[in-house]
Amino acid sequence: MQEFEYCVPTKILFGPKAEEKTGQVVQAEGVQRALVLYGGGSAVRSGLLARVEASLEQAEITYFVKGGVRPNPRMDFALETVREFREKEIELVLAIGGGSVMDTAKAAAAGLASSPEEMTAAFQGQGVLKRTLGVGAVVTMAASGSETSPTAVLSNGDTHEKLVYTDEKLVPRFAVLNPELTYTTPPLQTACGVADILMHTLERYCSDLGGNALTDGMAEALLRTTLHYGRICLEKPDDYEARSELMCCGSLSHNGLTGLGRNNEFPVHQLSHELSARYDLPHGMSLTILWSHWAQAVRSRIAPRLARLGREVFGIAEPDVDKASADCIHAFAAYFQELGLPVSFAQAPAGVVQDEILYVFASNCTDHGTRPLGVLCPLRKAEVLDVYRAANGAR
Ligand code: NZQ
Ligand code: ZN
Repeated sequence: MQEFEYCVPTKILFGPKAEEKTGQVVQAEGVQRALVLYGGGSAVRSGLLARVEASLEQAEITYFVKGGVRPNPRMDFALETVREFREKEIELVLAIGGGSVMDTAKAAAAGLASSPEEMTAAFQGQGVLKRTLGVGAVVTMAASGSETSPTAVLSNGDTHEKLVYTDEKLVPRFAVLNPELTYTTPPLQTACGVADILMHTLERYCSDLGGNALTDGMAEALLRTTLHYGRICLEKPDDYEARSELMCCGSLSHNGLTGLGRNNEFPVHQLSHELSARYDLPHGMSLTILWSHWAQAVRSRIAPRLARLGREVFGIAEPDVDKASADCIHAFAAYFQELGLPVSFAQAPAGVVQDEILYVFASNCTDHGTRPLGVLCPLRKAEVLDVYRAANGAR
């Protein structure tokens, strides 16, 4: 194994009715004043917000509430939140929702502890945050893994950019995971969540670095479990076993465990952020459009690894490594399509994309051609453009 440092400080409260312990866990953090954020209203409609409020009241926590976080969350909204609550002596920001609400909570926590300007600069890659407030999450869908990750992704709507900031200080202090809360996740979002969980593991797995037997085995188990239960979640949305397995996979897929000693470069995520920022596509969908085309582009460099992956995850017995690696990529693409997700621009709501726009995407992913995309399987700007072009045409 390569050298690594690893710290996952998030306390996980998992199981039915876990949200009723939210007040207790906030109190245990020594927090007396919290800001509760939620999204477009699913938490209100399901009664979850009211249950969390009751739990906070029981624990005598003073809290403020703000809704309205949208998918592909906006930096403007996070800044508005900071300005609205900066005089309220908030000590912790509590997200109720999916990745969009959690990421907004992380940004708001950073801005409330420092300043809107420092927070914006950090997300623009122009500084490191000195401090942030704690973040907690009551998670309502299995997808982003933001509940255990050090990352927040916010969009600048004017420039069509996704701004990614990663900092250990952003890792949530606690996450409340009741799989029953995910029963109402719309089918498309469930499918996108499955894809995102798979991709967080695949991106860590698809490199040519050897020597990680334990975490490779964990990654393969995580992928098998997600593939199996992802299907069931779509067939039977209120199947507790399936929803609980998926939720656990979601948190474990992005807490760094399967990437110990690896580069954690996330090239497909970088490619996909161009799409979701410009076309407002769900994150998981923007990944499935691109994954197989990126994998084809680097296949010759990591063929033995893809062949092993295909064998361990899909039972592909093909002895020829080159063919087995291609079969593995096709198997993932077929699975995404089975879930109803696109594997090309042509199949996606935005449709085929003009070449000039693909050129801009390729340029953005490589800082105008000044750096390759990825380290272990680096792709130059022209190769990145070819990936986008391949994604455009395939059906
Ligand atoms: O806003 P509400 O009304 O809650 O509705 C949401 C939203 O419309 C709905 N939803 C969530 N839980 C529900 C539900 N509807 C009914 N019942 C429930 N139980 O689902 C829609 C999508 O929610 P969103 O939070 O956007 O989805 P997701 O969790 O997939 O998060 C996507 C965001 O996470 C970022 C992505 O870039 C994207 O902005 N990511 C964050 C990461 C991180 N912080 O580490 C890593 C990921 O790779 C990802 O990039
Ligand atoms: Zn993701």
